[in-house]
Amino acid sequence: MATILDGKAHADRMLETVRLGVEARKAQGLRAPGLAVVLVGDDPASQVYVRNKSAACARVGITSLEHRLSLDTPQANLDGLIDRLNADPDIDGILVQLPLPQGLDAKRALHRISPAKDVDGFHPMNQGLLLEGLPGLRPCTPSACMSLLAHHGVALKGLRAVVLGRSEIVGKPMALMLLEQHATVTIAHSRTRDLPAVCREADLLVAAVGRPGLVEGSWIKPGAVVVDVGINRVEDPGLAARIFACEPKKLETFQSKGAALCGDVRFGEALQVASAVTPVPGGVGPLTIAGLLANTLQAANG
Ligand code: GUN
Repeated sequence: MATILDGKAHADRMLETVRLGVEARKAQGLRAPGLAVVLVGDDPASQVYVRNKSAACARVGITSLEHRLSLDTPQANLDGLIDRLNADPDIDGILVQLPLPQGLDAKRALHRISPAKDVDGFHPMNQGLLLEGLPGLRPCTPSACMSLLAHHGVALKGLRAVVLGRSEIVGKPMALMLLEQHATVTIAHSRTRDLPAVCREADLLVAAVGRPGLVEGSWIKPGAVVVDVGINRVEDPGLAARIFACEPKKLETFQSKGAALCGDVRFGEALQVASAVTPVPGGVGPLTIAGLLANTLQAANG
């Protein structure tokens, strides 16, 4: 039976480190770090994320300011707000919540954020620094996953890592961070031939594709470490029956509520093959916000 890697517990440890860092600034007479969160439109999932970010900021003593813009905001107004936040000496970090409504150019907005305030680590300057292995603001989810692996003593040097997914936000930066730690990294994706066979080579499998239950137990090398970045809502009873076949309790919850959250990995099956696995929920999800607040403190400390 695999060890369950508790993301919530590790997020709590990371947040405590940030809280102490904020206190240390205050002890030196410096102001609290300031994070500006820009939310355009009324996407319900984004509203939940933004609320969770504000609550986490309050917990560690970071000042968070929300800027809510209407669904029909022109790009020029968003550009103007980013320019003002870039110039605001009380703001250390700027986060533009994604996805942006149709008609707004997310890349243009992200590229406009000052690299020094880019706490998401999505600006090409920060991505370039990561590519070169230099310090900078790094994407929150992969850097928090690296912190989780380090905490659990996963020795990355020389191991075979497969990153499933090639997004700018998780897959690509995760692969670079693993490479920096001397893992042998393969990036696999939807067009990879014989995906199960590629995954079976992995001593460390990181799944970040957003496909519920894609990774079956038979795709996992016995003893592998599995990090599941996916957070998917399943509503199809047929799919739920397959994904949760080894998790009777989860299937019961699904049947009573008509929906359930699951990762890209079939957790119940992974538990029987892997040596360690992150759950969904309670795995990588809580780590992302902890990574964001760590970045905000880093941006404030320059
Ligand atoms: N939407 C969902 N996750 C994220 C994230 O990590 N950063 C931003 N900016 N938007 C998101």
